[in-house]
Amino acid sequence: MAEPKKVFVKTYGCQMNVYDSERMADALAPSGWTSVAAPEDADLVLLNTCHIREKAAEKVYSELGRLRALKEARPDRPMMIGVAGCVAQAEGEEIARRAPIVDLVVGPQAYHRLPAMVAAAEGGARGLVETEFPVEDKFDHIGRAPARRAPPSAFLTVQEGCDKFCAFCVVPYTRGAEISRPVEKILAEARERVGRGAREIMLLGQNVNAYHGAGPDGRDWSLARLIGALAGIEGLARIRYTTSHPNDMTDDLIAAHAEIPQLMPYLHLPVQAGSDRVLKAMNRRHDAASYLRLIERIRAARPDIALSGDFIVGFPGETEAEFADTLALAAEVRYAHAFSFKYSERPGTPAADAAGQVPEAVKADRLARLQARLAEDQAAFNAACVGRETEILVEKTGREPGQVAGRTPWLQPAHLSAAPETIGEIVRVRIEAAQRNSLSARAA
Ligand code: 5AD
Ligand code: SF4
Repeated sequence: MAEPKKVFVKTYGCQMNVYDSERMADALAPSGWTSVAAPEDADLVLLNTCHIREKAAEKVYSELGRLRALKEARPDRPMMIGVAGCVAQAEGEEIARRAPIVDLVVGPQAYHRLPAMVAAAEGGARGLVETEFPVEDKFDHIGRAPARRAPPSAFLTVQEGCDKFCAFCVVPYTRGAEISRPVEKILAEARERVGRGAREIMLLGQNVNAYHGAGPDGRDWSLARLIGALAGIEGLARIRYTTSHPNDMTDDLIAAHAEIPQLMPYLHLPVQAGSDRVLKAMNRRHDAASYLRLIERIRAARPDIALSGDFIVGFPGETEAEFADTLALAAEVRYAHAFSFKYSERPGTPAADAAGQVPEAVKADRLARLQARLAEDQAAFNAACVGRETEILVEKTGREPGQVAGRTPWLQPAHLSAAPETIGEIVRVRIEAAQRNSLSARAA
């Protein structure tokens, strides 16, 4: 029998790329491709790239340089190279021009074309570029997983693209307009994942709470309604969703946090900045006060909810006083967890050409001060859990022998002494101690 052909997919960026990478591997499986964990072992290397911040394209070109060296070091075994994801979408043919070792370039809405492109490249075609979009539901075309065990917490993309056009963000350009997948396809995929051992499903979308997929009743369903239907799947213990925009936090979704026990008490709700002038310049279409009121309503529905956010410091024109508004907003919300970034100019976005670009040193200083604030709040949130009884979904073996690791309902990483057979189970525990980024627990 012929050796199986081997593909290595390297994933950069967000969870949606992780999901896409899995689907790309699935799509190639019927034509004899198996996944391997390193480029050295691969006949085909796919880089699933991210364009959201700093030097994304440069990183891809330097990775391509390393792959060229690898390829040249093994002249007796061919290696095909493909670039996928948002850099592929943004740069398109430029990649094939600048890096002639690249056999194919495929944007995130064209993955249904991948098997045919790979077959063409195997046949000797060069410089293949596909960056068309959108397709109605690209996941229909790129295939589903063969029957292997699903991870205890499985990703499921329900929505792609974004119509919000925040002034700093490339997503509306690289991923295109908002598209919601139909309800029944999502429910079928969720049932299939649960059938293969998933206990938790993380619903993904660039703007997931804007979800409005076609329901079986011929109407558009909201995310809350979709979550309600998912909660009916036997064996599905936990449901999460990310990433949300404040303006799409509808009443029914807030109510779902109070009413649906499977919906975990965690919400990633980026605000980006605390100054109304900056929020306006960012085209966020909400102000600090309305965000804080929203947080109050969410906390009223689910008092123990862990709030998470994204922040950008040093947006063009941001003054010290405006940055202080961001610190004040963070202090008021007391996030359980947050991501924070220095503003990074993204070619083609409105903010890239704005006056008043903030010097790098100022951005670095503001980022350090914001991160100190956020770290303090995260530590306080974790410390408050010590002594509490709760449940952990065990996802993998831990760092120390005899340990397993998983997540609390509030998405905190936690570890405990238990047999590896507990992987995939929900274990009742007591939280014993809090470290910076994780909790120690003991079976209760
Ligand atoms: N510069 C810095 N951060 C950015 N993000 C998106 N675009 C940029 C940019 N140009 C951040 C936002 C967003 C997260 C996914 O990445 O905070 O919520
Ligand atoms: Fe980008 Fe999110 Fe704004 Fe959409 S809502 S443009 S994905 S930051």
